[in-house]
Amino acid sequence: MAYSDKVVDHYENPRNVGSFDKGDPSVGTGMVGAPACGDVMKLQLKIGDNGLIEDARFKTYGCGSAIASSSLVTEWVKGKTLDQAMAIKNTQIAEELALPPVKIHCSILAEDAIKAAIADYKEKHGVPEAKAA
Ligand code: FES
Ligand code: FES
Repeated sequence: MAYSDKVVDHYENPRNVGSFDKGDPSVGTGMVGAPACGDVMKLQLKIGDNGLIEDARFKTYGCGSAIASSSLVTEWVKGKTLDQAMAIKNTQIAEELALPPVKIHCSILAEDAIKAAIADYKEKHGVPEAKAA
């Protein structure tokens, strides 16, 4: 199975690899694992005073598709509100990267990581996480 050009591009030139200080109040950290394969993704968002996502970093211990998915979303979230970032769907990621069905869970990891990072940020700021009914 061949990776798409976009996956290879993000894999070879990953954007925004690295970490922010976890204790920084403007940073939300999401750490998620994929039960299907054991891969782990850490995604961090830095939120500006205006409430917009200023910057993002990731570290992913996983396959090419997981690395490409996290690299892609660090680009997508910049300049977005938290609500807009929450609305990013794994299907959009999978479509952009032309992921095959067996690699869909890699894009789900990226969607979950965004949500986990936002939940962490909100928790730091005393906003209770909205629970789905
Ligand atoms: Fe996750 Fe292959 S199963 S890298
Ligand atoms: Fe498991 Fe990609 S994250 S194979």
